[in-house]
Amino acid sequence: MPTEDRSLELSPGDFRRLIDGAARRAVDHVASLPEQPSADVEGGVELARSLVEPLPETGRPAEELLDLLFDRVIPKSFNTAGPGYVAYIPGGGLPHSAVADFIADATNRYVGVFAAAPGLAQIETNVVRWLADILGYPEGARGILTTGGSLATFSAVVAARRDRLPENFLSGMLYTSDQGHHAIEKAALLAGFPAANVRRIASDERFRIRLDALESAIGEDRAAGRTPFFVVGNAGTTNTGAVDDLAALAALCERDRLWFHVDGAYGGFFRLTVEGRRRMAGIERSDSAVLDPHKGLFLPYGTGALLVRDGEKLKRAHALTAEYLPSMQEAPDLVDFNLLSPELSRDFRGLRVWLPLKMHGIGPFRTNLEEKLDLTRLAARGLAEIPGMEILAEPQLSIVAFRRAAEGREGADLDELNRDLLARVNGRQRVYLTGTMLRGRFAIRICILSFRTHRDRIEMALEDIRAAAADIRGSGEDEHG
Ligand SMILES: Cc1ncc(COP(=O)(O)O)c(C=O)c1O
Repeated sequence: MPTEDRSLELSPGDFRRLIDGAARRAVDHVASLPEQPSADVEGGVELARSLVEPLPETGRPAEELLDLLFDRVIPKSFNTAGPGYVAYIPGGGLPHSAVADFIADATNRYVGVFAAAPGLAQIETNVVRWLADILGYPEGARGILTTGGSLATFSAVVAARRDRLPENFLSGMLYTSDQGHHAIEKAALLAGFPAANVRRIASDERFRIRLDALESAIGEDRAAGRTPFFVVGNAGTTNTGAVDDLAALAALCERDRLWFHVDGAYGGFFRLTVEGRRRMAGIERSDSAVLDPHKGLFLPYGTGALLVRDGEKLKRAHALTAEYLPSMQEAPDLVDFNLLSPELSRDFRGLRVWLPLKMHGIGPFRTNLEEKLDLTRLAARGLAEIPGMEILAEPQLSIVAFRRAAEGREGADLDELNRDLLARVNGRQRVYLTGTMLRGRFAIRICILSFRTHRDRIEMALEDIRAAAADIRGSGEDEHG
């Protein structure tokens, strides 16, 4: 028997003190998010190295550890939860989900097998059903919550592969636009396909997949004896938020009997808005779709979702069982998540989606997403008014891509000027933007997707971009060179 001081059990008093210490710091941290710099990683490498240590033999007081995290480690990072984070794809991090994770971990129930926690498995089943409803999928749809969009895409490719290809599947071909997320290539590789089996199809002037180019590629592959089977439509690309013509892709895939997958990791939840629903017409005809609640539902990182229109196909690709497991459910409405997913033991992800949705209902999520669409239009209008600023991608959802044009400067030289502009904007530490390459040209993006980003912050972004552009002019950098 362990002696008292060796026990890993926290006394009720110590447990409460640990929770209170963490809660007090987390609440203060969240309250100060708007005042925190939009990014501060100066000295981050030194900090990382100073944290290297061997496996500790003895313990330290909890207060000391919480101070280390909140005072030294957490501040040295991008302020991804703050209102100024309009970089990459923001999420926000609803604190409700942090509390849900706390409950899930403190109770430590097992939801991968229905019999082990029927009510909790049902809560997760409800969440998956709500996501299927958002997509417009029928009753027979099933899905899983994953750690993110990348793993959800992996399971989509595996489900399609098992449904459409023979055991020897190496002739199977996958298609996405040249704007598709690299998660698609990664999923294909992990699912066993050679890199050359993923075809990048040219996109049009608005960064949407070109249907004619797709049809030609499919035709060429068929003629060469390869087996087209998986077409990805983008419901919001990472670069510019471009939405492919999903209805046309659905028709093509139905006609050619191809698996139609939609990558809605970033943009899918905009289907909750009137405009998003119009842009994404056809998504409901897809065979599978990825949604990332840690993006469009503003959750903390760690929750993606895969929905499959015909749930049996997801199950056939993943269902395996063993003698040491309890029996699985026969009733079609009761879900054993381990039969639909690569995972057996895992955290109870459903609760982090369920708690905020139950506390607020979907209304405020929809309003927030509508606000993000409006703010992006506002940002695009404001940018267009800055002399010399060129909009490279008008918003289709909540991303606008732009760059500064400068007479006499082009190619790598102009890219350099824009990298400088970006660094100057970020250096002001009120907003954090990132760049990308569009058709070989460096572009700056604003991506608005945090429930904490409102009009005041977008006005700050415009002010800082204007000021940074003026600084560059003042320093003679954009003079005819
Ligand atoms: C369009 C798109 N697809 C897939 C992914 C990958 O998702 P995750 O980062 O959740 O794995 C992302 C991430 O930003 C994305 O924007």
